[in-house]
Amino acid sequence: MSTHIAAQPGQIAPRILLPGDPLRARWIAETFLDDAECYSEVRGMLGFTGTFRGERVSVQGTGMGQPSASIYVNELIDEYGVQQLVRVGSCGALTDRLQVRDVVLAMAAATDSSMNTLRFQGYHYPATADFALLRAAADAAQAHGARHHVGTVFSSDSFYHSRPELTAKVVEYGVAAVEMETAEIYTLAAKARRQALTVCTVSDHIVTGEETSASEREQTFGDMVTIALEAMLA
Ligand code: HPA
Repeated sequence: MSTHIAAQPGQIAPRILLPGDPLRARWIAETFLDDAECYSEVRGMLGFTGTFRGERVSVQGTGMGQPSASIYVNELIDEYGVQQLVRVGSCGALTDRLQVRDVVLAMAAATDSSMNTLRFQGYHYPATADFALLRAAADAAQAHGARHHVGTVFSSDSFYHSRPELTAKVVEYGVAAVEMETAEIYTLAAKARRQALTVCTVSDHIVTGEETSASEREQTFGDMVTIALEAMLA
């Protein structure tokens, strides 16, 4: 096992979905995967492996925020050799181009996190998605008739912003939605030459104040998981 994941070598598939919420990991495993088995319960951060359309796929909770996601992605890459990592989660819309329940495919991620500031010592690193996964996810979203947008997200360390005017500044430059993990996942995947993508649904609208109900979130979460799984298998 690795420090935070209790799986034996080979128990985790090369393709993995990464929801922030470990209970979503279980829901995805039970709803979408055949013969799913739990491989880790360390710290309640559940992980499962099963099959989707005959191919092995895993799903691992990451927790919220880049430091937590970084722990799991580091171990998944270094100790378990995962090749494709697709984050599935929610985001807040920052522009009226988006509506609640829309799917956002994160082409790139800006960030206020110090993780890349420390890593690059003042250089600014463009954290970007894997193009093949992004293109496959856009194709899958289109095939399912899901309202979707390909654009830039803001991976913030804060859910509660003390300086909203700083978020307004990145929106001026085209950033569409805020979430909390993507910049670090893309950066780690790029370094290890693995493929990464974030597919998220708009759960709340920062501009209009609109929110989704629990049942709407479940429905749109399911659409998003289908898009993510089809992108990995394309
Ligand atoms: N901020 C950060 N992450 C999020 C949000 C938000 O408003 N909504 C869903 N994930």
